[in-house]
Amino acid sequence: MKLSPPWRKALLTLHVVTAVGWLGVDVVLLTLGVAGVRGAAPDVVYPAIGLIGLTLFVPLSVLAWLVGIVSALFTPWGLLRHRWVMVKLIITTVMLGAVLFALLPNLRTAAELGTATPADARLGLLMAPIVSTTLLVIATVLSTYKPWGRLRRGRAG
Ligand code: HEM
Repeated sequence: MKLSPPWRKALLTLHVVTAVGWLGVDVVLLTLGVAGVRGAAPDVVYPAIGLIGLTLFVPLSVLAWLVGIVSALFTPWGLLRHRWVMVKLIITTVMLGAVLFALLPNLRTAAELGTATPADARLGLLMAPIVSTTLLVIATVLSTYKPWGRLRRGRAG
């Protein structure tokens, strides 16, 4: 599966915009999560976390993951041909699972309860972006440095 150069550039642009945009929104959630546990205006902070999380972060998580996979499959990099791509795939797949199964319930709680968001959910809404921003920075570094070479000998790439 090989794309012409203009299509490849367009796909790469889409990938960088969605993936690094994912990191950017995550940093916003981290900022709000820190503000929340420090007691800053919970009537504003938790509805904002709920809104940004549910309308932007969760859909962007799915989109960035899908576009990442397409970017690997439709370029000579391949999905399981180079270690840096495979590690990114593992990191983002684990992260997507955590977003959908661990973060999503806390986002719903924050959106529905606002100020009444319980302490365990508040802590979850801080810990999740700490872990995920770290993972996404690692993914970004892997993307630019592309370390560790090939996984096995393939036909192309
Ligand atoms: C399913 C997960 C992902 C896969 C399979 C994947 C795969 C790829 C591939 C194959 C490329 C090269 C595309 C090309 O040369 O046309 C690429 C580039 C890139 N990826 Fe990802 N990616 C994933 C997630 C991410 C994430 C989460 C980030 C950052 C938050 C990211 C950041 C980048 C950047 C910045 C580039 C451009 C690197 C350059 O042009 O030198 N990717 N990715």
